[in-house]
Formats: sequence, structure tokens, C-alpha cells
Amino acid sequence: MRELTYFVAVSLDGYIAGPGGEFDAFLAEGDHMAAIWEHYAGTAPTQLAEAAGLSVENGPFDTVVMGRNTYDVGLPYLPSPYQHLLQIVFTGSPDRPEGSEAVEFTDADPAATVRALKEGDGGGIWLCGGGALAAQLIDEIDRLALKVNPVTLGGGVPLFGSAGYAPRRWSPTSTQAFASGVIFAEYSRG
Ligand SMILES: NC(=O)c1ccc[n+]([C@@H]2O[C@H](COP(=O)([O-])OP(=O)(O)OC[C@H]3O[C@@H](n4cnc5c(N)ncnc54)[C@H](OP(=O)(O)O)[C@@H]3O)[C@@H](O)[C@H]2O)c1
Repeated sequence: MRELTYFVAVSLDGYIAGPGGEFDAFLAEGDHMAAIWEHYAGTAPTQLAEAAGLSVENGPFDTVVMGRNTYDVGLPYLPSPYQHLLQIVFTGSPDRPEGSEAVEFTDADPAATVRALKEGDGGGIWLCGGGALAAQLIDEIDRLALKVNPVTLGGGVPLFGSAGYAPRRWSPTSTQAFASGVIFAEYSRG
């Protein structure tokens, strides 16, 4: 069975970006980078990985799902950011940027879409973000893979958007602490 993994960087106070989409407070250098890449190859945009000499082969995912706000972060330079994956972007907008032909845009229900993907053959499915999409997919997430950065933001885009109060239990499967201060924490549902 294919699994949906929410692999994401998050602050100590639970934000995945600042209120204006800021992400420069998250550490882009340090010993956590190579270690996490070893297990999560393919989670950088294709062009950026190539420029950094990183192989996108043999990663855990063959599909990435994201909300339109997350997709838009890469524009105009990366209209097809993860060319090595099947890319699905949820949006109600008809706007299709030039160069995005390989991207599947859809206004279908995210949970139903993910359930259909899981019933098919293939590798892992990466929930890239953002918080609004994650809130709608929370009951479809099989694994959380959190790059917990040693920073508080004080406000911004919550990990699960505006999902209401509803405690869900997650089982820790792995925790790695890095000299950079990043803690990589993985959980499975239940
Ligand atoms: N820290 C990290 O690792 C990380 C990872 C990913 C993203 N982020 C950050 O997260 C932020 C974006 O998160 P976000 O919560 O604002 O937005 P988001 O979840 O990325 O996108 C929300 C948008 O997706 C579309 N959408 C969502 N549900 C839909 C549905 N059921 N049907 C059709 N369209 C749907 C809508 O787009 P339309 O308005 O076009 O209809 C909606 O406005 C960015 O700042 C990004 O940098 C951080």
C-alpha cells in the first residue's frame, strides 16, 4: 500500500513559514542536510538538486502533492519544480504558468485524490505542503517526517493550517538530533 508522508520543515512553535511565506529562518546548511537527503532523496527541486550535484534517484517518493500557494513559491523560475516526480497541485484557479505542462493541476477533493493514488501501484506519496492542504489531508497522512528547526517564528503558516482542535496520536518511529540543532522526528499514524 502506498503511503502519504508529510515531509516538511517546521519551527519549534509549529509553523512551516512566516506570515508572508518567509522561510529563511529554517537552516539550509548543516549536518542535518546530507543525512536527511540520504533517506529523502528527490525532495529538492530537480534543477536545484542538479546544480548541487545531488542525485534525485532512489528516493522514497514518486509523487508529490501540494497546494497552490506552495507551488507558487517556485514561480517564475520553477514552473515544474519536481520534474522527477508526478506533480499534483490543488487549485481552484485556471491559471497555468508557462512551462508547467508536466504539472497536474486539479480542483478535485484532496482526500479522495490521495485515496485513489494509494489504491494504485507506485512508490511513496509526498505531501509537500502547505498547511492548508495538510489540514484537509490530515486523516490520509500515514507518516510525519518533521525537520524541527531550532527557531520560534511567533506566527505564520501552521503545520496543519486551520485544522481545528482534534488530538490525534502519532507513534514515534525515529528521532535524530543534529549538531546544527535540527531534530529530525518521524512518526507513523496511531
Ligand atoms: N517548511 C516547509 O518545508 C514548507 C513546505 C511547503 C510549503 N511551505 C510554505 O507553506 C506556505 C503555503 O502554505 P498555505 O497553507 O498557505 O497554502 P497551500 O496549502 O500550499 O495552498 C493553499 C491553496 O491550495 C489550493 N487548494 C487547497 N485546497 C484545495 C482544494 N480542496 N481544492 C482546490 N484547491 C485547493 C487553493 O489554491 P487556489 O487559491 O489557487 O484555489 C489554496 O489557496 C508557503 O509559504 C510555503 O513556503 C513550507
